[in-house]
Amino acid sequence: MKKRLGVLISGRGSNLQALIDAVADGRLDATLAVVISNREDAPGLDRALAAGIATVVVSHKGWPSRQDFDRELVRHLQTYRVDLVCLAGFMRLVGQPMIDAFPHAIVNIHPSLLPAFPGVDAQGQAVAYGVKVAGVTVHLVTPELDGGPIVAQRTVPVLDTDTAESLSARILVEEHRLYPEAVALLLAGGWQLDGRRFISASR
Ligand code: GRF
Repeated sequence: MKKRLGVLISGRGSNLQALIDAVADGRLDATLAVVISNREDAPGLDRALAAGIATVVVSHKGWPSRQDFDRELVRHLQTYRVDLVCLAGFMRLVGQPMIDAFPHAIVNIHPSLLPAFPGVDAQGQAVAYGVKVAGVTVHLVTPELDGGPIVAQRTVPVLDTDTAESLSARILVEEHRLYPEAVALLLAGGWQLDGRRFISASR
C-alpha cells in the first residue's frame, strides 16, 4: 500500500507542485490524498484540482480556540487516511492536537539554514544579516516554530547583488528539489531520532 500524503497550504503552492510532479514521474512513491488550505483563494488549490487531488478549505477564522481549528484539520486528514502531513507554505502554527494525531509525521520546508532565520521572510532576514550562504531546511514539526529535528538541508550562495526576491528565487529552485527527496526519505522508514538528531536508515 502506498503511503498517503496530506499537504497543507496557504498560498502559491509551488512546493505542492513539486510534490505533485515527483509523484507523477515516479521520484516519490506515494499518493497525494488531500490538499487542505486555510485560505479559499490560495492559488495552490488550482494546482491540486488540476492534478485531480481532493481539496478542503478550513479557514483559521471563527473558531473558539486555535485547538478547535487544529482538531478540524486532524478530522479531515484522518478522513483521507493520511500517513504523513506535508506543510507547504502553510502560514499557521501547528498546535498540539495535530502533533498528537501525527507524531513525528508532520514535515515542513523552510527557506533558510535553520536554526538561522526562523519565521517569516527568512530570505529577507538572510540578506539583511549579510550571510554569504543561505539555504533550505526540511524538518519535522514540533510546537516550536521552525524548531523540529532537521531531516535535510541544502545550501544556496548569497550574491552581493542579491535582494530578498532574487535570493528567494534561487532558494526556491532548491526547495523544489529537496522537498520530494526528503519526503521520500521519511516514507522509506528505518530512520530514527537521537535527541533532536535525525539519523537516516542509509547511514
Ligand atoms: C516557501 O518558500 C516555503 O519554504 C515557505 O513558504 C514558501 C511557500 O511557497 N515555507 P509555495 O506556496 O510552496 O510556493
